[in-house]
Amino acid sequence: MSKKVGILTGGGDAPGLNQVIRAAVYQGVKKYDFEFVAIPDGWKGLLEGESYPLSLDDVKDWIVEGGSLIGSTRTNPFKIENGGEKCRENFEKMGLTAILALGGEDTLSTAYKLYSEHKIPTVGAPKTIDNDLPGTDQCFGFDTAINRVMEAFDRLRTTARSHHRILVIEVMGRHAGWMTLLGGIAGGADIILLPEEPFTFDKVAEKLKRLKKQGRKYALVAVSEGAKMEFAEGTDIITQDAQLDEFGHVRLGGIAKILAKEMQERIDWEARYVVLGHLQRGGAPTAFDRWFSTRLGIAAVDQIAQENFGVMVVLKGSKITSVSLKEAAKGIRTVPKQFIELAKIFEP
Ligand code: F6P
Repeated sequence: MSKKVGILTGGGDAPGLNQVIRAAVYQGVKKYDFEFVAIPDGWKGLLEGESYPLSLDDVKDWIVEGGSLIGSTRTNPFKIENGGEKCRENFEKMGLTAILALGGEDTLSTAYKLYSEHKIPTVGAPKTIDNDLPGTDQCFGFDTAINRVMEAFDRLRTTARSHHRILVIEVMGRHAGWMTLLGGIAGGADIILLPEEPFTFDKVAEKLKRLKKQGRKYALVAVSEGAKMEFAEGTDIITQDAQLDEFGHVRLGGIAKILAKEMQERIDWEARYVVLGHLQRGGAPTAFDRWFSTRLGIAAVDQIAQENFGVMVVLKGSKITSVSLKEAAKGIRTVPKQFIELAKIFEP
């Protein structure tokens, strides 16, 4: 009997999702004679018992598409009573053999829980522009996002230079600075502020003054949305509101505005700010992400064919391999000290 695989995407969308799905369907249909269904809107779809068929024809042109064509939510099945049992029940009703879950920390730790506590055979693939998932050297979506950051820097540089201004650029990434670091280095940022190393307004102002003294008439500052400001009484992050999502995350954002205002006041240098926001994750993936996602989709289906469940397919060095989904539940992977130091070489 042919295997029937349900595919879902959870959490924030990321470029590469449709490319993983496309490759999984190609590999599954052509190599193993699998059947596929989409489970719409992440774990919400499974909780509600929703699915629809995905054929080769459906996914054929998905190589160019951004976002998630099967929808994504941040639904946490374990936030509702008997959520795990409901998922198991619907898994059986749909006649599924396995679920391929594409997501970050939240989606994949849920996949692990459903596998270990409710015996749902799951396989995961690491998605997140934040690049903060442990167990893999890189997540798909990240390469596209840092290219967007770099392009934004290239554009903002010309306007900052024309008007002799400071431009503070806020980059996504939650509590990990990967996007700010790599996007900032690629975009030639003068100062890079990461969540991994709290900053003070005084120190940033000093650096900017130094830059001015060195003869530069404009400045580009990259700041992570989750960068922490250091005060005598501790550190603080800036949030958009006090509400938490179903996985307990706050909505970050707003730090660039505060930083730009502080710098303008402290050193009398006109400052503007830009929040790159969702432009960083919308749209079509880069060639690297299309290739990487394709490899992941194929490897994920191979794991299902081998009945090797409770794993996620990952990148280690240049190889695609698999690790336990337990890794996804180990907290976030932040930027190591050596890369934080590397960025400082380019500071004024
Ligand atoms: O996790 C991906 C991410 O884009 C973060 O970088 C960002 O903080 C968050 O999602 C934004 O979430 P939302 O799309 O719900 O505003």
